[in-house]
Amino acid sequence: MAPGVRVNARQSADVAEGLKLRGGRSMRIVLTSSEAVPFSKTGGLADVATALPKSLAAVGHDVSLITPYYPQVIRKNGTDVPTIVPTGKTIRVSIGSKQIEGRILKSTLPGSRASVYLIDQPAYFDRPGLYVEQDQDYRDNSERFIFFSRAVLEATRVLDLKPDIIHANDWQTGLVPALVNVEYRGTPGFERTSSVFTIHNMAFQGQFWHWDMLLTGLDWKYFNWRQMECYGHLNLLKTGIMFADLVTTVSPTYSREIQTQEFGCGLNSALSSRNEDLIGILNGVDTDVWNPSTDPLIAEHYSATTSIAGKAACKAALQRRLGLPVRSDVLLLGSISRMTQQKGFQLLEQCSGMLLDQDIQLAFLGSGDPRFESLLLKMSQDIPTKVATTIGYDEELSHQIEAGADAFLMPSEFEPCGLNQMYSLIYGTVPIVRAVGGLADSVVDASVENIANGTANGFTFREFRSEVLFWNICRARAMYSDKTKWNRLQMAGMKRDWSWKHSADEYLRVYERAIARHERKSECDTNERRTEMASCR
Ligand code: ADP
Ligand code: GLC
Repeated sequence: MAPGVRVNARQSADVAEGLKLRGGRSMRIVLTSSEAVPFSKTGGLADVATALPKSLAAVGHDVSLITPYYPQVIRKNGTDVPTIVPTGKTIRVSIGSKQIEGRILKSTLPGSRASVYLIDQPAYFDRPGLYVEQDQDYRDNSERFIFFSRAVLEATRVLDLKPDIIHANDWQTGLVPALVNVEYRGTPGFERTSSVFTIHNMAFQGQFWHWDMLLTGLDWKYFNWRQMECYGHLNLLKTGIMFADLVTTVSPTYSREIQTQEFGCGLNSALSSRNEDLIGILNGVDTDVWNPSTDPLIAEHYSATTSIAGKAACKAALQRRLGLPVRSDVLLLGSISRMTQQKGFQLLEQCSGMLLDQDIQLAFLGSGDPRFESLLLKMSQDIPTKVATTIGYDEELSHQIEAGADAFLMPSEFEPCGLNQMYSLIYGTVPIVRAVGGLADSVVDASVENIANGTANGFTFREFRSEVLFWNICRARAMYSDKTKWNRLQMAGMKRDWSWKHSADEYLRVYERAIARHERKSECDTNERRTEMASCR
């Protein structure tokens, strides 16, 4: 067994029970994220933050998830949140000149042995939103998440988790890899801890004025262009990228894109400098939640192996729910999304006139930029027989759109991974996407060649232009009338395994690489010290 990788009694028993552990070993993993379903969610990060620990725990690893406790958000989410109880343990950290305390609470993930710890600090987290209120970022966001990052390490220490890996996600936990390296290296329980940092979206960097460096408690020497500084500001995403042992992002294509000026959001050089340590891993799907053969929220169950007849019933039910004419012959396009520039709503805006002239139906669910919200609402008010717009967040309707729509629109300007195109593929709902990031890695265009070799599962385009999007919607409409071809597209998507199994396995390989690298580094440091001592003698 590799040093630094321990197997405890319970996990040995699991091996005996036949659970699949990589090479017969298990790791102690702490994963941290500022949001995690079912406790909190603003986007796909929350889905990943739960699904990955679940998959890692399912193959016998010892996984703890640490996330903030947002009581107001949890109360809004209602009944589906598992019980949360105090552990009786507290943490205390320095933020600038202040000492801030927090309580460590504990909960579970439904259907998983992974542990969940929530950091309770009402002044920072008992608020209506996670990061924003009435479209304004909270003014103390840097302080809130610098506190949270420090709290993660203190909770790990107090709970005696002794991790092999601390896996941080996005800017809110970008300080974690720096703290592991700079402050916790000599602390008992952290001697063997390696850090992995995952970028979910380069567009959100946690960039704050330079004086917030004082809140981090780290020496000003780290405020330089190779570590925490970016154009004179403190940048927490860059901090995570530069200090982690290994960096991942959520699709192979995005890992290449972000090293270019077009997609790097100003950090392309920093990322290129870590080129060898940057790995793209496509997210998976939590198939306990997204599965048309078991989904409790849809009108009828269906599957690729038995029959997809139930999908027609789901389409009719969706049309009824949204007040659209119940027609099986019309192409029904769905969209569930933050209504923002990233998601390409400006393209829909530009071709809305041409779209409304077509014999199609459109079902939009989401919220975001008021300009796009009002455009889509106006379209549904003007032509309610063609367009149904729902503004807001609605889990149930999102499942019903995935099951009931024929095709799914995701013309993103950039898309690190994207989850809805994968949900669509599982539900036999053919995605129409711009071939960027994870969309390029999951959707295969319905070209003549790809249809013939059975790989085509959707429609893709490269140019970010409304005419090109419109032309692809027309392609989909034309192919929809050829039921044999359409069915082939649906089957190609539905039959592929989109679960977390493969992605979790890739993360395990990354963790093993980070552990091995850390061990090599420690060996080198010891050798260096020996040489120094010898030369002093
Ligand atoms: P991003 O994180 O960039 O917003 P993703 O595709 O990774 O995009 O994830 C978005 C997640 O949020 C998906 O699980 C999607 O179903 C969900 N979602 C987005 N908007 C809504 C909404 N209005 N109602 C219900 N679910 C939504
Ligand atoms: C981000 C990205 C999205 C990705 C999600 C989960 O929010 O915008 O593409 O799927 O993170 O990794």
